[in-house]
Amino acid sequence: MALPQRDGFSGRFGVLAAAAGSAVGLGNIWRFPYITGENGGGAFLLIYLFFILAIGIPVMLSEFVIGRRSQSNALGSFKKLSPGSSWWLIGLMGIIAAFVILSFYSTVSGWTLEYIFQAAASGFDGKNMEQLNTEFVAFTSGSFRPVFWQIIFMALTAVVVLAGVQKGIEKYTKILMPALLILIIIICIRSLSLPGAKAGLEFLFVPDFDKITGQSILLALGQAAFSLSIGMGALITYGSYIRKDTPLLGTAVQVATVDTLIAVLSGVMIFPALFAMGESPAGGPGLVFVTLPKIFQSMPGGYFFSIAFFILLSVAALTSTISVLEVVVAYMKEELKMSRLKATLIGGISITAIGVLCTLSFGPLKDFTIFGKTVFDLMNYMSANIFLTFGALFIVIYTGWKLGKSNFINEINEGGKVHPLIATILVFIIKFIAPIAVGAVAIGAFFIEGLM
Ligand code: TRP
Repeated sequence: MALPQRDGFSGRFGVLAAAAGSAVGLGNIWRFPYITGENGGGAFLLIYLFFILAIGIPVMLSEFVIGRRSQSNALGSFKKLSPGSSWWLIGLMGIIAAFVILSFYSTVSGWTLEYIFQAAASGFDGKNMEQLNTEFVAFTSGSFRPVFWQIIFMALTAVVVLAGVQKGIEKYTKILMPALLILIIIICIRSLSLPGAKAGLEFLFVPDFDKITGQSILLALGQAAFSLSIGMGALITYGSYIRKDTPLLGTAVQVATVDTLIAVLSGVMIFPALFAMGESPAGGPGLVFVTLPKIFQSMPGGYFFSIAFFILLSVAALTSTISVLEVVVAYMKEELKMSRLKATLIGGISITAIGVLCTLSFGPLKDFTIFGKTVFDLMNYMSANIFLTFGALFIVIYTGWKLGKSNFINEINEGGKVHPLIATILVFIIKFIAPIAVGAVAIGAFFIEGLM
């Protein structure tokens, strides 16, 4: 007789949709272009790609293995696989990271909702870059509107998480993610056809290593982890919902490919247009919100595309925020024995409370700084560069040195055999290469160049 099943994904496609939905989000479309823009372009992109391949995929696979093997949440999984040890602290760090990430992520998610309405109200028409920038600043530095949208967005996230993983997530991502990809490609074509676009392509693809510092290497690693949703247990949690007949390595490679494709295309969408308009690539967090409206203005059907784009961007953000909230909810539900409703309410409301501080740090709390950073900047910086970097480090150390080679290999061989040579290489990377590389980058950036 079959045992009662945990709530889980219905099959291969469901997992892929959910994990890709988690990975693809504001990290690709909002964060990647502006961080790349601030860190010199091409050389940064190369380092980023290296980290996706050498660190990202092995860590993602490790998370899937830990989750599916333990059938448990981000914290419970370590308790179950290594009882009586302190490894669950990795899970605790992940839960804290979920609060940190979602607090500032929900700020930007709220902005995407505002921009749907601005697009629909033809709010971008006839404005030059400077005016678009002034309006962005005016909106984000307000109090009521950005907080209002943030709360709406968190409520949407909570509703989907309440519905449960499988029903909530699979349904939407199937259609909307491919639609987003097509729209991005259309916008890329427009951006590339603007006069002067070539300089932007060169910026993105021709590396200039003089612009790289220890800090920017850390930022590339942090961005790779952030974009793939690794290092905090989101994919441990999703891994626990993956059925035994789903191949984990194949899924990890596919998710990383889709995620990287969308990040690079977002760069192709932004930089050519930006250079064509003679603007600086170091525009910071407002970059896409100012550049994209400008591109839409010069596009046939721009009105329609702008509305569709911001709707799809909100959905991409939503499929990411649910994966972060699910980490907290799965933990509270399984470890603290709360109902899904109670866990979602407590998790959602407390994260929103911190999130409001992030949102207000563009306006009323602008001058309130910690380590010279506003609350938003601090959360944004710490999430990727501290929590996810160290999270990824500890996860590979755990997988490589504690979980054991045979456990790891048995798990990745469920649902399809992995070639023994590939399995050996993966184990080698997880045991030696990844911990040394991540450790060296973190130590170099923090201790040689100073913490932030
Ligand atoms: N990867 C998402 C993005 O790029 C953000 C995200 C969702 C995330 N879940 C995560 C980041 C878990 C780190 C960990 O937008």
